[in-house]
Amino acid sequence: MDKLIINGGKRICGDIEISGAKNAAVAILPAAVLASKGVCTIENIPDIEDVRGVLKILESLGCKITSGDNYAVINSENINTCKADIDEVKGMRGSYYLLGSLLSRFKKASVDMPGGCSIGVRPIDQHIKGFEALGAKVQIEHGVVRVEAERLVGSNIYFDVVSVGATINVMMAAVLAEGTTVLENAAKEPHVVDVANFLNTMGANIKGAGTDVIRITGVDELRGCTYSVIPDQIEAGTYMIAAAACGGQVRIRNVIPKHLESISAKLIEMGVEIIEEDDFLVIKSDGKLKGVNIKTLPYPGFPTDVQQPMSALLSIACGRSIINESIWESRYKHLDELKKMGANAKVEGRIAIIDGVQKLTGAEIRATDLRAGAAMVIAGLIAEGTTVVTGVEHIDRGYPKIEEKLSKLGADIRRIKSEDKRSLI
Ligand code: EPU
Repeated sequence: MDKLIINGGKRICGDIEISGAKNAAVAILPAAVLASKGVCTIENIPDIEDVRGVLKILESLGCKITSGDNYAVINSENINTCKADIDEVKGMRGSYYLLGSLLSRFKKASVDMPGGCSIGVRPIDQHIKGFEALGAKVQIEHGVVRVEAERLVGSNIYFDVVSVGATINVMMAAVLAEGTTVLENAAKEPHVVDVANFLNTMGANIKGAGTDVIRITGVDELRGCTYSVIPDQIEAGTYMIAAAACGGQVRIRNVIPKHLESISAKLIEMGVEIIEEDDFLVIKSDGKLKGVNIKTLPYPGFPTDVQQPMSALLSIACGRSIINESIWESRYKHLDELKKMGANAKVEGRIAIIDGVQKLTGAEIRATDLRAGAAMVIAGLIAEGTTVVTGVEHIDRGYPKIEEKLSKLGADIRRIKSEDKRSLI
């Protein structure tokens, strides 16, 4: 497995370009199976493992795909199976969007239970509740989810929890259903809106995405279209934190500043200067930061996916910071790794208490999941001496070319490919 070697303590300066949003792309690509006519050209897709995985799964269903630099052209006219069971299905969360999209178009789907980061129990009861409300039968046996319906009929669905996955999946299931579906207590994340915009470009009739009530009026068919994925809110947040951590001045390009408000607000509270323009942010920091309290919440609250990178920053901020992780119950594994570098953190249930230390010191640390990996990289950038990050395959699932992007800013970070392990010695 690859490793990242980071020599910390360098200021970073310059411009960084944010890629397309992972959590939008892994939903939009499976939604392309809804096009019974024409091709979907999806642009601004990030060059990450999860996207490569979704494309392989789509090919296994019979989609014809040509892909290149950050785009994929998907022809779903001749899908020949509704069974998604290749290894990639179990390796990510986004594969479960095939339940909603295949059910919608073919009235059936069989998808292996999705995987994804190990950050707590990840039930799909709200997805199932939504599919059943539309008239589908759902069975889970031997690790496979099967959904089937004679017809799908619009319904009123009130989600018991705010779920990104359930909102998107049930929205996809409803786009071709007879009549109107109303989703209440829906998730409002930017990627929910992006998927709705994509579906509407294909001919769907979805109103209210981005609010907590989404109305979907079923249409007869969806057709191919050209669509560009929004910039990644979480990748942008991660690099905002990296810039704050290293001191210096970084321009973060290709962002939607509105999506980053909760992160900007916390960084400003910590003492970071942020200049906001139409599609870029400038982050200026002298590295002197003060601790803050954070509660992760559904959008527009502080995103759980930025909690881990943020806690690396808080570990060197002056004073005490308290984090309340309200979305995932075990998203603190990275703190044990940060402690190897000298961080002073303890966890009590969903609360983490971090007392800022003067410095972190380089160590061999492991990325236990995707955003934990981002936290490890930020810690390595801050730390005195050399940090070796293992578990890089988790980082590659969601951050395109992380070492290239950071190197361009002046960070001393390089990748050791698994085959050249000897050069580490
Ligand atoms: N939940 C239920 N029942 C359900 C679905 C969710 O109880 O049927 C609960 C979950 O246990 C959790 C909360 O609802 O406590 C929110 O879960 P959600 O469904 O919103 O999460 P998800 O769709 O599985 C997506 C992202 C995650 C991100 C969360 C929250 C994708 C592929 N994944 O997961 O991203 O943390 O939303 O914003 O979109 C990441 O990118 O690192 C990542 C983990």
